[in-house]
Amino acid sequence: MTQSYQELYDRSLSNPEEFWAEAAETVQWDKKWDAVLDDSKAPIYRWFQGAKLNTCYNALDVHIENGHGDQAALIYDSPVTETKRTYSYSELRDEVAKLAGVLTGLGVTKGDRVLIYMPMIPQGVMAMLACARIGAVHSVVFGGFAANELATRINDAKPKAILSTSCGIEGSRIIKYKPLLDGAIELSDHKPANTVIFQRPQVEAEMQEGRDIDWASAVETAEPAACVSVEATDPLYILYTSGTTGQPKGVVRDNGGHAVALKWTMKYLYNIQPGEVFWAASDIGWVVGHSYICYGPLLNGSTTLIFEGKPIGTPDPGAFWRIISEHKVASLFTAPTALRAIRKEDPDCDYIKKYDMSCMRALFLAGERCDPDTLFWAQDKLQVPVVDHWWQTETGWAIAANCLGLEEFPVKPGSPTKAVPGYNVQFLDEAGQQVPNGDMGAIAIKLPLPPGTFPTLWQNDERFFSSYLETFPGYYETGDAGYQDEEGYVYIMGRTDDVINVAGHRLSTGAMEEAIASHPDVAECAVIGVADKLKGQSPMGFAVLQSGANRDDEEVVKEIVALIREKIGPVAAFRMATIVKRLPKTRSGKILRGTMRSMADGVEHKVPATIDDSATLGEIAENLKTLGYPKSV
Ligand code: COA
Ligand code: AMP
Repeated sequence: MTQSYQELYDRSLSNPEEFWAEAAETVQWDKKWDAVLDDSKAPIYRWFQGAKLNTCYNALDVHIENGHGDQAALIYDSPVTETKRTYSYSELRDEVAKLAGVLTGLGVTKGDRVLIYMPMIPQGVMAMLACARIGAVHSVVFGGFAANELATRINDAKPKAILSTSCGIEGSRIIKYKPLLDGAIELSDHKPANTVIFQRPQVEAEMQEGRDIDWASAVETAEPAACVSVEATDPLYILYTSGTTGQPKGVVRDNGGHAVALKWTMKYLYNIQPGEVFWAASDIGWVVGHSYICYGPLLNGSTTLIFEGKPIGTPDPGAFWRIISEHKVASLFTAPTALRAIRKEDPDCDYIKKYDMSCMRALFLAGERCDPDTLFWAQDKLQVPVVDHWWQTETGWAIAANCLGLEEFPVKPGSPTKAVPGYNVQFLDEAGQQVPNGDMGAIAIKLPLPPGTFPTLWQNDERFFSSYLETFPGYYETGDAGYQDEEGYVYIMGRTDDVINVAGHRLSTGAMEEAIASHPDVAECAVIGVADKLKGQSPMGFAVLQSGANRDDEEVVKEIVALIREKIGPVAAFRMATIVKRLPKTRSGKILRGTMRSMADGVEHKVPATIDDSATLGEIAENLKTLGYPKSV
């Protein structure tokens, strides 16, 4: 490597405008910027002010114009439907242009929102790119969310149209999407004018006349739409993520900074060349799917891969290895939980021996902390660099990583290595002062955040300020806590808020509490995340019944479990709940969730001096025992 990490990192902080202007040279602009960084409305910063571009053009058309139209853009591998298909850049562009034409035919124009509710099929990525092509703002909702969550997002984003499908396939189960979508539209105050439904052969969705349009026939007759030039600062997408309350946060991503940053990461972080296959085994409903299934690899002229399956059971724990060898995947990006699932079924990784894995250069892990055990296992079995990297929906790309395209550092287990160029990461105490190396602190990033991160929340600057900027003026508060060592390696130890991480999925215990509290017999409740060997964390609920409820505890628990599935969705993976007489609280009435979590995890805990409630804590301990906690993980 010609450039050292330190040199580049220092330059990214000392002269961010020069650094990012140079990176921006790799993007095709319709018009160059007036200012690289506009800080006139600080602490809201805007990158590449005045510039114009089209993200879809940069992801597809430009590669065709440069003579790579026949190169593979997207590989679809679906063991659950026994389908494999490769789309060249030309084929993908043609599909996207026609779908964009369907949208324009429905009156969707620049700035309009389009909601996408799709499983892991190529049409999901086509839908995102079709929106980008015409300057519409997409909002993808993960398939594992129920109608209620979908409705919340419809109400907030107010989409003109919704792109969806008849069904998704979860292992061997068919999940009908259309009834969920119909239910969500029924529940929401905002009603989209149209839905465009991709009928899959497994299930035929019932269509509502006048509103629902058949995807395939609409695409067949549509005029391909051209790319619409948008401002670099115009929104490309909104992606809702869990916050402390039941109201999700609409993270906004702009067009210009996003294209620049993602292209930069493909080279310097992931070390992926145009023409190589990069596989992010995530879902388009998560930020990883947005950045590295859809946009990153395509902006880079690489090949992306859509996998409709699971790490295990579709059909076996060798699925990942088969795909890597068959499609010549250079690097895989997944969540540690997927590896733990594979390891549980195939501890010695015997399945890998069936495949030629020589194409694989690196494994990237994110979404949750990578426990050293899983790291060692992956290093041993794969014999390639295993890179844990830390990021968030809000940032859209990694805050800390071992940048393989720049300079590979020795791995320290439990650490995602060092801050990535562009991020000035600080560890602060409650007063906002830096803590010494080795001490735990709240992790904050000095403003401005680099390009490609979120400029604000969708139509909610106020919540953007109060959620992220208020605690530490001049910094973005990540919501994570951790520490840094003498060599600048960072360690991410957990959240400082009510967000938990279940199987690499970010969930809000606050939202679960709101769902439980809506049960007519529940007086109050608390949800905590307890350690889970496979999924990292699992939610566990405690409910106090209304006096005089006179209900069987087990019955109520079943109803609570069903309620969360109905209101939030199966992705919450909420299975454990218990009924208690009282919740432990401080004198000021704050529920001792931290203490309860420590009790469930079997770790030492201090009971705050203000409470003297051994009976309540004793009951919690008893009920935990009934649920099998604490268990060693
Ligand atoms: N659509 C509908 N339902 C979905 C869904 C989707 N897209 N994704 C998950 N679900 C459902 C699951 O079917 C399951 O339903 P069930 O309660 O009826 O069994 C439930 O949501 C919980 O799912 P999950 O927590 O994923 O558990 P699992 O047992 O199905 O799978 C793993 C376990 C570890 C294999 C799986 O979680 C996994 O692959 N995780 C990796 C996550 C990841 O890539 N995260 C992205 C960050 S990079
Ligand atoms: P999401 O917004 O869904 O990507 O979730 C972001 C959160 O997941 C972060 O704030 C962390 O709490 C956690 N997270 C993601 N990646 C890592 C990692 N590599 N190490 C530790 N925690 C992580």
